[in-house]
Amino acid sequence: MKTYTGQTLREMYLNFFKERGHKVIPSASLIPENDPTVLFTTAGMHPLVPYLLGEKHPAGKRLTDVQKCVRTGDIDEVGDERHCTFFEMLGNWSLGDYFKEEMIPWSYEFLTGKDYLAIPSDQIAVTVFGGDDTLPRDTEAAALWEKAGIKKENIYFMPRENNWWGPAGLTGPCGTDTEMFVIRKPKCSPTCNPDCNCGAFLEIWNDVFMRFNKQADGSFTELSQKNVDTGMGLERALCVLNGKSSVYETDIFENAITAIETLTGKKYGENEDVTKAFRVLLDHTRTATFMLGDEKGIVPSNTDQGYILRRIIRRAVRFGRKIDLPEGSLAKISEAFIAYYQDVYPELNINRQKIADELNKEEAKFNKTLQQGLKEFEKCVNGIARKNAFMSQKDPAYVPETRIAGKQAFHLYDTYGFPVEITVEMAKERGLDVDVAGYTAAFEEHQSKSKAGSEQKFACGLADNKEATTKLHTATHLLHAALKKVCSPDVNQKGSNITEERLRFDFNLPQPMTQEQIKAVESLVNEVIAQDLPVEMKEISLEEAKAEGFTGLFESKYGERVKTYTIGDFSKEICGGPHAERTGSLGKFKIVKEQSCGSGLRRIKAILE
Ligand code: ALA
Repeated sequence: MKTYTGQTLREMYLNFFKERGHKVIPSASLIPENDPTVLFTTAGMHPLVPYLLGEKHPAGKRLTDVQKCVRTGDIDEVGDERHCTFFEMLGNWSLGDYFKEEMIPWSYEFLTGKDYLAIPSDQIAVTVFGGDDTLPRDTEAAALWEKAGIKKENIYFMPRENNWWGPAGLTGPCGTDTEMFVIRKPKCSPTCNPDCNCGAFLEIWNDVFMRFNKQADGSFTELSQKNVDTGMGLERALCVLNGKSSVYETDIFENAITAIETLTGKKYGENEDVTKAFRVLLDHTRTATFMLGDEKGIVPSNTDQGYILRRIIRRAVRFGRKIDLPEGSLAKISEAFIAYYQDVYPELNINRQKIADELNKEEAKFNKTLQQGLKEFEKCVNGIARKNAFMSQKDPAYVPETRIAGKQAFHLYDTYGFPVEITVEMAKERGLDVDVAGYTAAFEEHQSKSKAGSEQKFACGLADNKEATTKLHTATHLLHAALKKVCSPDVNQKGSNITEERLRFDFNLPQPMTQEQIKAVESLVNEVIAQDLPVEMKEISLEEAKAEGFTGLFESKYGERVKTYTIGDFSKEICGGPHAERTGSLGKFKIVKEQSCGSGLRRIKAILE
């Protein structure tokens, strides 16, 4: 059996598709641009959504890349063998070019070819869409697999819940898919199939045939072009290909494991609890390193992405305590990841100091209150136990209490910095749960305007209103240019997020803006709106764009050709669009808030009236 490292698999994959006419494009940022429905890039296709919807990609119709992704939905599962909050996804795309007839044979060739993964074909199983009321079963895909060489008995027709993928956010491109599995051992029963979690089938790759667009009202429309979107999670693929049982036993984690062993004197694998603590530390430190080191860098805070980052770092600190990890260790563990990844993701090395500083700061901050907070938590748990003992003595029919009150959870958050998810997890370890609704009520009572993390973001059910978000996107360019003129030419975009109602723009500025500056920026933007200037798009090479003085915010995402947007002589930016046609359509621009969002960083929220 060949042994694969992250690097050999990345190279093999990208080269395979390069040889088949694909352009290799760099990974985009972990922060999705203009997708208000999710906080992080969750799949390789995510940054490509506009192109899957029909926009022309500067690098052509065949693309391949390795994309950094974050999915935090299963964060509490991290610590087992296969869950990670950060992962790399290998992928290739047809933007209205090839479809199933090419993709399935290619997948077969990559999986079984002797120059590629060389998996014996009778050890591969695939699932295909089994059909439902709205769409027929995908007999075409099944026939292509059989023709390629997959045994008929290893082709499984499965329901929509297994063989439908997307969209990445709440709306967008999606479609039926075919998933590929390595057969690791005999089926556990005659009815066992790739959906069974007995470990007989290990997923390795997913080909999505994207023909539909999910609308905000939940309906589906047919896309103007047929796309292919594929995804192979690098960590899981490495684990399967190397015959390991856990993703942590790949070369990615080797040096970081050694670092933790040196820092704690414990051995990975020593016992279950130690192993779990190692894995949580490995996963969370890696994710935090990528978030802090991202080109659109995030820092810990109490809202949105910053909150998720804070929660991840604090969870790492809590698990670190279980294995006596000394304070200041997260930055040391992150060094091992920076060293491992720096050639593929140069932004980590560029942001090395920031990563270390922010990890140290957040760790120290939480450590200050952690000890006290844990005591407080114990008091809570003991209080419940005492009450239960007392009451059940008095009344044999008494039903014991198992719930920590929402107010108490809020107190742990507000005073000791325990993200509620951590309190829930600690409660679970003690056989208790938390009144999360009560927590939320207490939270909202205290800071009604704050939005804590993705859960609430999802819950508020943002709908995609294209026109409103397009206008706000154009307003973002005007704001950016106005800030450069009013505050400093050194001002640069550090983050942007647009919902139907407002834009949010993060930028560097060492001090708060004055009232005069805020007013000046507002009037300048409104002046440009009143001039009703055309917004002009031009596709040119990155070099030309730089030479012509376009602001190159997201250059690492594109190949040689980029889209540029010019608004009179006021704003010139490289950007994927879409934008309003003229500034006159925007309405009245108003800054509703200017605040800090990290050291040296300011955040503006603005609306169009
Ligand atoms: N977008 C598909 C996935 O994430 C390929 O599985």
